[in-house]
Amino acid sequence: MKISICGKGGSGKSTISVLIARGLKKEGYDVLLVDADESNLGLHRLAGVPLPKNLMDHLGGKKGFKEKMAASKSLPSQGIFDERWSVESIPEQYIARADGIGLLLIGKIHDFGEGCACPMGVLSRTFLSNIDVAENETVIIDTEAGIEHFGRGIEGLCDVIIGVIDPTFESFMMAEKISAMGEKAGKAVFFVLNKVDEQIEAMMAEHTDREKVIARIPQDHGIFMKSLEGEALTEELSEIDRVCGFLRDLEI
Ligand SMILES: Nc1ncnc2c1ncn2[C@@H]1O[C@H](COP(=O)(O)OP(=O)(O)O)[C@@H](O)[C@H]1O
Ligand SMILES: [Mg+2]
Repeated sequence: MKISICGKGGSGKSTISVLIARGLKKEGYDVLLVDADESNLGLHRLAGVPLPKNLMDHLGGKKGFKEKMAASKSLPSQGIFDERWSVESIPEQYIARADGIGLLLIGKIHDFGEGCACPMGVLSRTFLSNIDVAENETVIIDTEAGIEHFGRGIEGLCDVIIGVIDPTFESFMMAEKISAMGEKAGKAVFFVLNKVDEQIEAMMAEHTDREKVIARIPQDHGIFMKSLEGEALTEELSEIDRVCGFLRDLEI
């Protein structure tokens, strides 16, 4: 199963991606976490995995990638996607592993004025098109903030979309967009309400489609402190266990 985790900046996408990755590992899945957010710098710290060299840099950076794209007519294999991959068979140089979780980075912005992140979108799509995910494997994609990745067609290559909604009006509006675009892509869309307490949750319920809400994650001081200190998220939350059980039962 390929799961896209999306939502507005700061809503908790990276946090929820890591917690679900750990939860699905506990469920017995072989888990690959894909960092598709070109501005994320610390996902490896949250995941407790060493920092791998990103795919784009393996391909000679954006410049080298664009040149290779210009030279190829069809979906570019770029010389690294010559064979189809599974979570298990991704060549070791592209991935870092710890605690049974693999981490792969698509690409990062390195320099002032280097240009837009469109090549990262193309590379995300190429990667997701090239990976076969077996029944006991799962790929979790931590996307960049907002909904540009929908425009890039990333969700079309996923099985499940999870929108992370924090208590802001901006998030409610984004949830509507995510629902509409997910539906258009023909994909199952679910929501995780994040950073809630009872009072906030009651307010949020008015703005979200209850049937699609699969978890309500409390504002958790331990989670916040781990992020502040750049430490691995090892919190075990019953709500996350429930989400992972729900995802397992989808049998995708
Ligand atoms: N359930 C939570 N409880 C407390 N803090 C949270 C929770 N979820 C996320 N955060 C905090 O919110 C901030 C943004 O989270 P992050 O996962 O980086 O968001 P995003 O990836 O969507 O930008 C971080 O400081 C993180 O620790
Ligand atoms: Mg993030």
